Order: sequence, then structure tokens, then C-alpha cells
Amino acid sequence: MGNKRGKFITFEGIDGAGKSSHIAGVADLLGKHGLRVVTTREPGGTPLGEKLRELLLNEPMHLETEAMLMFAARREHLAQVIEPALARGDWVLCDRFSDASYAYQGGGRGLDKQKLAALEQWVHGHLQADLTLLFDLPPAVAGERIAAQARKLDRFEQERADFHSRVRQAYLERAQSAPRRIQVINADQPQADIKKLVEESVITHCL
Ligand code: TYD
Repeated sequence: MGNKRGKFITFEGIDGAGKSSHIAGVADLLGKHGLRVVTTREPGGTPLGEKLRELLLNEPMHLETEAMLMFAARREHLAQVIEPALARGDWVLCDRFSDASYAYQGGGRGLDKQKLAALEQWVHGHLQADLTLLFDLPPAVAGERIAAQARKLDRFEQERADFHSRVRQAYLERAQSAPRRIQVINADQPQADIKKLVEESVITHCL
């Protein structure tokens, strides 16, 4: 086979940042370059992971339980989906990964970063994303987008504005500490302009 290892791109941002619509765009772009792409998400991405997602999004729990279940789902996801895909040369686009744990469980809920770092080291000490696109915008703007969708909100979306401000802040701190890997995209502008920035970033950093 001798396939070149694929690249791993993750997409992050507060709820309502609009990242999901851009993942399909990146998949399209990579497809046009003749690359095989696997699109997946966290928490989830495997049958077990999707069951854990259901619990994580709906069931009240201790914040350390929440963090450990996020990483348990991630462990399964890496073993079943992400690692095999990268090894056979596919590119993996993942809607959220460990930066979300630092942002939500760390920034949002206040879990000690050292505990998150220990879980991260355990679960994927050997692997980091090649590129992370962080869709950044004020929580008030994101909140309006979510409200406009008029659907039932999950446990995280139901959190108050100050929770989302802390999540955003933690994401931006993560970006400062890993400026090469994490590219911050201003998501408070027209969709077409964001799409352009996303494509430029993928082309510059990965292709
Ligand atoms: P997401 O799939 O973006 O939600 P939606 O399908 O509504 O767009 O993410 C689900 C939620 O899980 C989101 O609110 C953030 C949260 N989350 C964490 O708190 N920690 C994590 O490690 C991950 C991966 C997600």
C-alpha cells in the first residue's frame, strides 16, 4: 500500500458559531483535490460514542464524569475511526475534538486544566490535529442564531451567557498557546467571506 498518512483537521467554536456548514465545504474542496475524506464529530462518531453523546447532551452529571465521558468517547473514536482512517491515507474532518473539552469542561465548567491535560495525554498523547479552525464570534451573536433555530436546546446550549463567554475565552487562550495549529476565523461576518478564509487556511496549512 505505502499510502501517505492523511491529515487531521478539527473544527471548533462556541455553540452557534456556524462551523458545521463549513465542514462540508472543506470536504468538497479536498474531494476536488482527489483526497479521500472522512467527516465525523464529537462527542460521537462511533455507535458507542453516539450513545455517550446522548447522555452527555441530556443527562445532568458531575463535571469530572462529563470530562471523562468526553474522553472515553474520544478514545473509542480514535481507535475505531480516526486512527484507521489516517493510517490508510484518508483525511479526517472532525466537528470538535479535545480543544472543546478545554473550552467547555475547563473554561465553561471550571475543571482544572491539569486534569484535562492528563486525560488528553492518556487518550492521545501521540496525536494532535494538523490544523484546527476556531470559529470565533461574540456569544450574543451566536445566541441569536441558536434562538432563531427554534428547537430543543441541549445541556450546553441551555447554559447562560457567562458560560459561553468563558468557553470562548478558553478557546482563544488555547489558540494563543498553539498559534501554528489553531487558526482563528472571525465567524461574525458574511458566510461567503468565512468560507473564503476557511479554504485559504486549509490550502495554506495542509495542501
Ligand atoms: P455540537 O455537535 O457542536 O452541537 P450541535 O450538534 O448542537 O451543533 O456539540 C455538542 C456539544 O458538546 C457542544 O455544546 C459542546 C459540547 N462538548 C463539550 O462540552 N466537550 C467536548 O469535549 C466536546 C467534544 C463537545
